[in-house]
Amino acid sequence: MKNSNKLWQGLSDAKLDPAADKFNASIKIDKKLWSEDITASIAHVMMLEKTNILDTKDAQCIVGELEKIYTDLEKGNLIIDESFEDIHSFIEAVLSKRLPDQGAMLHTGRSRNDQTITDLRLYTKKAIKNIQTKIKHLACTIVTKAEECIEYIMPGYTHLQRAQPILFSHHLLAYYEMLMRDYERLNDLLKRVLVLPLGSAALAGTSYPIDRDYTASILGFLQISNNSIDAVSDRDFVIETISACAIIMTHLSRFSEELIVWASLEFNFIKFSNAFSTGSSIMPQKKNPDIAELTRGKTGRVYGDLMAILTIMKGLPLAYNKDMQEDKEVLFDSIDTVVDCLTVFAPMLETVKPNSEAMLKAANDGFINATDCADYLTSKKGLPFRMAYSIVGQIVKYCIENKLTLETLSLEKYRTFSLLFDESVYKSIDMNNCLNMRTSFGGTAKTEVIKQISRAKKEIELLK
Ligand code: ARG
Repeated sequence: MKNSNKLWQGLSDAKLDPAADKFNASIKIDKKLWSEDITASIAHVMMLEKTNILDTKDAQCIVGELEKIYTDLEKGNLIIDESFEDIHSFIEAVLSKRLPDQGAMLHTGRSRNDQTITDLRLYTKKAIKNIQTKIKHLACTIVTKAEECIEYIMPGYTHLQRAQPILFSHHLLAYYEMLMRDYERLNDLLKRVLVLPLGSAALAGTSYPIDRDYTASILGFLQISNNSIDAVSDRDFVIETISACAIIMTHLSRFSEELIVWASLEFNFIKFSNAFSTGSSIMPQKKNPDIAELTRGKTGRVYGDLMAILTIMKGLPLAYNKDMQEDKEVLFDSIDTVVDCLTVFAPMLETVKPNSEAMLKAANDGFINATDCADYLTSKKGLPFRMAYSIVGQIVKYCIENKLTLETLSLEKYRTFSLLFDESVYKSIDMNNCLNMRTSFGGTAKTEVIKQISRAKKEIELLK
């Protein structure tokens, strides 16, 4: 099939310089859009038939051939020829070759400007649904893990300093919340993805009596675009999708960082399974958390994609400019990266083995019940909190100097700091008690975390 005639070669028959031709082409990237391109073309032709712009015989002939092209590409009977400028030119050329009389009618009332962006919107819809399925799966994995480990107590941190005792499950469920926001964010932006630009033609609309609502209904768009100039030059949905991907990656990256730190011997809170960690070529004792590290690392790519698309768009005059061809590479990269990361993250987490003893030891070692000791003086004994805080500060200092803990300090000694202390202090500083007292909504008490788990399970069920 000869491809020397560009779709746009109306004005001159001078050939593009080979280097410029290669530079101008986008087929290596946009070939991913082949199925969306055919689907949108079929809808376009059905609309042209409905509005009597094409007669039924021609329209049916084109639709039938487009369906054959679809099957041929799907089955590998037709190979995409990458010497074409883009996927749209290629598919139209195949059609015209197979249907010399009707092929040329396909492009009636449309332009590549509204065609490409329609395809990209369809692709984005599919990608969003796929990402959402993966998010849902990871969310389930987190909730299952939280349920399995409901008894595990660990130190909660601020400034990476041991702060207060929490349930490991409570910590995990924090990531569940992030993922649910990610899911919702994608749902929300889907409304803006599903606005049909087709029918805007090059930028000014068309004089053919087209029915854009009909095309939208065939393709599952919720709305048609209001302004043809905006429709062909708008890439907000690309920016929004990459931005949503970037936020997902932020969450996965923070989670990765924690898993990596927890897997170090210094923490020893978790062990990765052999299936999701690698060994070192020279240090036999090592188990490297490569999967989590790569997830953290790939976050950088997606942030880069976001910066790229924002920068590509920032100075462009209306309407279409070729700069916009660069939108697809960054969008595809972000989508692929997020999908890849979510795909490995769920089974990696599922096979992580938490070490409840190490967690509990860390929780017992760090005076993380000091706040509860101060709360005891305040709530049980009526001492203003600042004074209680100062007394407990002195007690902690004494314990550190004498290698004691709040649990092992004698009552006699407590009373040298304040006569308000009595036997009941030990109950107040008991780790389980400290934790289970935090019954405020969303808090770390086991009763609350159990509620969070059952709430999460219901929410996952309801995801659409
Ligand atoms: N491959 C191009 C893109 O993705 C198609 C649009 C071409 N339109 C044009 N006026 N040259 O942006």
